[in-house]
Amino acid sequence: MTSGSIGIQRIEALHYYVHDLDRTRRFFVDKLDFVEVGHSGPQLEQEGRQRSAAFQAAGALFVLHEPVGEGGRAWRYLRKHPEGVGTVVFDVEDIDRAFALLDERGGTFITDVQRFTDDEGTLAMFSITTPFGDTTFRFMERRGYRSLFPGFVATPAPAAGNRFGFERIDHLTSNFQTMKPALLWMQHVLGLEQLWEIAFHTNDVAPAATHARREHGSGLKSVVMWDPVSGVKFANNEPFRPFFKESQINIFAEDNRGDGVQHSALAVIDIVGAVRGLRAGGVEFMATPGTYYDALPERLERIGVGRIEESIDVLRELELLVDGSARGQYLLQIFLKEAAGREHDPEAGPFFLEIIQRKGDQGFGAGNFRALFEAIERDQQRDKSDAR
Ligand SMILES: [Fe+2]
Repeated sequence: MTSGSIGIQRIEALHYYVHDLDRTRRFFVDKLDFVEVGHSGPQLEQEGRQRSAAFQAAGALFVLHEPVGEGGRAWRYLRKHPEGVGTVVFDVEDIDRAFALLDERGGTFITDVQRFTDDEGTLAMFSITTPFGDTTFRFMERRGYRSLFPGFVATPAPAAGNRFGFERIDHLTSNFQTMKPALLWMQHVLGLEQLWEIAFHTNDVAPAATHARREHGSGLKSVVMWDPVSGVKFANNEPFRPFFKESQINIFAEDNRGDGVQHSALAVIDIVGAVRGLRAGGVEFMATPGTYYDALPERLERIGVGRIEESIDVLRELELLVDGSARGQYLLQIFLKEAAGREHDPEAGPFFLEIIQRKGDQGFGAGNFRALFEAIERDQQRDKSDAR
């Protein structure tokens, strides 16, 4: 049973709570070429007890918040968790309808609908709690409202930026120690529908070899929910037996001190150019072993994708991943290093970004979980025989 869409149109922004705004600003501006489009004014800083700045690349917007003193939202989030996504902002078609539907279906409101006006129009918004740990959802309807947010000061003449061609926030992936309550909530309260699911554990791909190695416990269950009207998708993971403790998903939950948003994917127009440029600028990515590419042509045949436009050598050089399920329809993706590794600071948190280029495939690269795991296994076997 589905309850129907509440009118979500897109993910407008992610609010990211950080200890050190300048550090994360350097990452977004210097490394990713996002543009700082505004920051909190003095009154908002005083009332909210946090300092904020917004960073944009085309349709992707990140709002960073750093606590100023105690008691503000960023301070309360960071008191419990390392740095991470504390609020997801959605544009909705009709704010009053969204509010009424959520109210009817048992949504828990942090605020009523608040309305703001500027010279050009109105902005209406409200927030709810979620089963995504301490991450809240905010719904917004802009009617000609040009300012970024109430209390924000726009950057007078923002640079053009975005030389890597980011387009929008493609999807969010969240991790749960048990995801069923969140899935039911997404279905019954948000009115989402299940798109697909997958489950596998390390026994599928590495019999008997994995008990002792924490990094090999990649067992997970993944369920994707979506809003069929807008196409906005939420991928959700939980650990899968028998490696609950060793599962990457459980490790995330421990590092994050609770459930939460694991990664967010930014869609790009040209991933080869973007990743080449990002690497040249010193952005670090999760490594892909060469054996992944040795097996790639055969794997693409097996999953039905067949030939792709990019040369395997270029993919190998940039360590791009490929997945898909129909002839000529695929996606290219790569994962950036998580914030804690990037900043050499566990309190920077386990959140990371993905870069994705869709060439007809609407999945999430599920095939890469397994392909990567198998590639790492082959790497280790080769190391072992080299050592002999
Ligand atoms: Fe993803």
